[in-house]
Amino acid sequence: MIDQALLNHAAGVLKTISADQRADTALRYYFERHGYIQPPARRVISHAVFVYFRWFQWLDEKASPQKRLEQAQGLHERFTADPKSIKTEALAALAVPDWLKTELTELPADYLRQLQRDPALWLRARPGQVHRLAKALFCGELTPQAPDALRFTGTSDLFKSEPFKAGAFEIQDLASQLVSVAAAPLPGETWWDACAGEGGKTLHLADLMMNKGLVWATDRHEKRIETLKRRAARAKLFNYRTAFWDGSARLPTKAKFDGILLDAPCSGVGTWQRNPHARWTTTPTDVAELAATQLAMLNHIAGSLKPGGRLVYSVCTLTRSETTAVAAAFTALHPELEPLPLASLKSTQPALFLWPHELNANGMFIATWQRKK
Ligand SMILES: C[S@@+](CC[C@H](N)C(=O)[O-])C[C@H]1O[C@@H](n2cnc3c(N)ncnc32)[C@H](O)[C@@H]1O
Repeated sequence: MIDQALLNHAAGVLKTISADQRADTALRYYFERHGYIQPPARRVISHAVFVYFRWFQWLDEKASPQKRLEQAQGLHERFTADPKSIKTEALAALAVPDWLKTELTELPADYLRQLQRDPALWLRARPGQVHRLAKALFCGELTPQAPDALRFTGTSDLFKSEPFKAGAFEIQDLASQLVSVAAAPLPGETWWDACAGEGGKTLHLADLMMNKGLVWATDRHEKRIETLKRRAARAKLFNYRTAFWDGSARLPTKAKFDGILLDAPCSGVGTWQRNPHARWTTTPTDVAELAATQLAMLNHIAGSLKPGGRLVYSVCTLTRSETTAVAAAFTALHPELEPLPLASLKSTQPALFLWPHELNANGMFIATWQRKK
């Protein structure tokens, strides 16, 4: 059980969380205001808050926040010791909101169990360096799914490690890594990472291109692009350029690309293990609005592909509206493009769901097309 003082801090954080203030943001602000709380205590408080939202619908509404945090911790410990001790029916009824059931093609018991576990932490080593990295960090598990992925199993502060300072790895979820693996850009090509954000996938594309060719990285948030530039400098990657794009029909360039990645804004259902608070704030209206935005963005960028160019659409969500429905609508609107099998993910299908329980990572949907020659 958690120390009472830490429990009080966790209850203090809960007071500052709302539909507009995500749990991770609330935690960051809370720790900024309470600078004396040391990293090990911060980890316990953060964990208590995330566990609280994972077990939210089991908790006694009338109890105090501290009592509810304790109840959640008790459920977490019981579930960790014996995952079967919580029935699948209870998980289906309480671990996710009801509306999700109309948006998923299936609701596997293993997926529900995965949602209640602590998430794995994945690193992406620079190409060819994964074994050296595992050695330098003294721990980690490789996966056959992605050549540079390493699951970090230690507890030390990665940001203080020598390999981090040397730019030897990025913290990047395995499902996100598989998006760039699916894109499979070649050295010398020109790509557009249209929703680049802080550059997780831009850096991966640039790495796969072995620092040759060019990646255009665009986003509507200036601050995210600034972070991308800092990360690229640390990784010593120079084959990219940045520009503003807000998703509208006003494109940042008239250039035509060998490949375009649209890692679109989405409801983030695939991140609900890591970010359980979002289970209770995301609405079907968000899903419908985001699906419309995603289709509009795809339509705007489709004309920027060269003949033979590849388009990759990815979203870290699993809702039908934002995945298969968007892909089907887009295919129907664009006879000049044809769905392209995801060969680099060893699939004959042009669209794939990556499930959290199969990967021990975020959920993701990836679809690809090729412009006819
Ligand atoms: C899923 S995130 C991208 C994450 C990034 N690719 C990565 O790997 O780190 C989606 C991005 O789309 C950007 N974006 C651009 N135009 C947008 C629009 N019209 N609405 C919402 N987000 C938009 C957001 O700023 C956000 O950074």
